[in-house]
Amino acid sequence: DWLWLPALVLAYLMGSLSFAVLVSRLMGLNDPRSYGSQNPGATNVLRSGNKVAAALTLLLDAFKGWLPVWLVLQWGPQLGLGWNTVALVGLAAFLGHLYPVFLRFQGGKGVATAAGVLLAFEPWLGLAVLGAWVLTLVGLRYSSLAAIVAALTAPLLYWLGDDTLWQVQPAVGIAITAMSALLLWRHSGNIQRLLAGQESKVGGKKT
Ligand code: G3P
Repeated sequence: DWLWLPALVLAYLMGSLSFAVLVSRLMGLNDPRSYGSQNPGATNVLRSGNKVAAALTLLLDAFKGWLPVWLVLQWGPQLGLGWNTVALVGLAAFLGHLYPVFLRFQGGKGVATAAGVLLAFEPWLGLAVLGAWVLTLVGLRYSSLAAIVAALTAPLLYWLGDDTLWQVQPAVGIAITAMSALLLWRHSGNIQRLLAGQESKVGGKKT
């Protein structure tokens, strides 16, 4: 049961793959760290004007969070890996996105990756939080505000869940709460811009 260690390292390395940077490079676009909010994430890639690149970034950054958690949930029981490893592997992928070893630890804000991790932890919870995110995004068109609403919704729903929805696993709940806290903290600049009425909207004019 020493396998939890390589599992964490692999999840962290997967999380470290910044698809905003990789997709942009492969598609011949500018590096997202050079324009807009400078954030290597799907929202900022969208500011390049390339919707396909932004969608690919969103999906792949989510996938890299979903996959390691899903793998541990699938194979963990046979390998002696339990809920602590499930929770830590999700957190490791998320932290990889925020502090990627390949980008001198200067990563993104973690919205897509947290969504992937959450969908793997508890698909129904993930879908509910995704719903809150989509409603906020479509209704108010601030990507950052949608992420903030989702970050507040996720731990609240998880801890409130009764056994018919999901069995609350403390380790998973702590991982979700920690991801949300880090995600909110990474959005402090966005929160200041939102309060000042200076945040850029999506689907509207460019920054
Ligand atoms: O994915 C991060 C998003 O919530 C905000 O991104 O580029 O507007 O700071 P950005």
